[in-house]
Amino acid sequence: MKTLTLVRPDDWHLHVRNGALLKAVLPHTARQFGRAIIMPNLKPPVTSVEQALAYREEILRALPQGMAFTPLMTLYLTGSTSVEEIGKAARCEHVYAFKLYPAGATTHSDAGIADVRSAYPLFAAMEKHDVPLLIHGEVTDEQCDIFDRERVFVDTALTGIAGHFPGLRIVVEHVTTREAVQFVESASERIAATITPQHLMFNRNALLAGGIRPHHYCLPVLKRESHRQALVAAATGGNPKFFLGTDSAPHLTSLKENACGCAGCFSAPAALELYAEVFESAGALDKLEAFASFHGADFYRLPRNTGTVTLTKTSWEVPAVYRGEDNVAITPLKAGEQLSWQLKV
Ligand code: NCD
Ligand code: ZN
Repeated sequence: MKTLTLVRPDDWHLHVRNGALLKAVLPHTARQFGRAIIMPNLKPPVTSVEQALAYREEILRALPQGMAFTPLMTLYLTGSTSVEEIGKAARCEHVYAFKLYPAGATTHSDAGIADVRSAYPLFAAMEKHDVPLLIHGEVTDEQCDIFDRERVFVDTALTGIAGHFPGLRIVVEHVTTREAVQFVESASERIAATITPQHLMFNRNALLAGGIRPHHYCLPVLKRESHRQALVAAATGGNPKFFLGTDSAPHLTSLKENACGCAGCFSAPAALELYAEVFESAGALDKLEAFASFHGADFYRLPRNTGTVTLTKTSWEVPAVYRGEDNVAITPLKAGEQLSWQLKV
């Protein structure tokens, strides 16, 4: 049997929600990953160190007995974030970054930043304290076509931020376009990007051709094939600026299969297996370990994990639905489909 053993990977962009949803989704991530950067877009958002510490406790309580997993907390940047809170976050051993959501860009982003330039004093504080800034890189201008929102953000906001704050470490989250990849590649080494499994596997036909597929709907939205190819080249090329961030974003099936469906793909149950398929079809399985287990840890200046995980070449079917307490039902990415790699437990 073909097997693949990697140093235990980390997920550098993850939504685990709270309450019953948290309990239902967390074990899937903890089974595979040593650590994850936890997104702060709860309702209400996690905006203070105090809230982040309380949320961290809730995550640790939801962890099944015997599972070792470390949540790396982030704070949600709002118009009322203070420079003091940034100093506090920098001194807190459990907070690793701030997340910038342009107001209205995605799920629970209404408390985000309406005008990126207004947040420059906050970026200056992050630069000073060396706290990374994680960016959802899309403009929210209603006049801007949804397929262009990332490219326009690169030109109108990201280039400015990167130029203005040469010492600020930035992760351009879930890149989806050739333009964002090129921006990251040509920027200094303190600028990196995460890439999701769905943007590596699918182009926008998977969302819209032959019927609308709500479980392929996420933000930034899937793009055309040439962009997907640029992402695969970036992820599998060995460049340390690109690392694994699933953006697994669970929503109840009833809220996805809806006249106004929520954005987000629940990829956590098969995350590593999905990436393995992508790397194998690109003939780059030898590059998977660095992408999944080294580049992110190095960027965040954390030690690499010490244990390992093993994948075997075994075909298995992704369950149609995952259930939890309080009638939680969540449809995973690739529900009911066959995968060719399986994580050994
Ligand atoms: C995320 C969510 O549901 O929280 N959705 C998504 O489509 N990716 C938010 C985000 O990361 O944009
Ligand atoms: Zn996200």
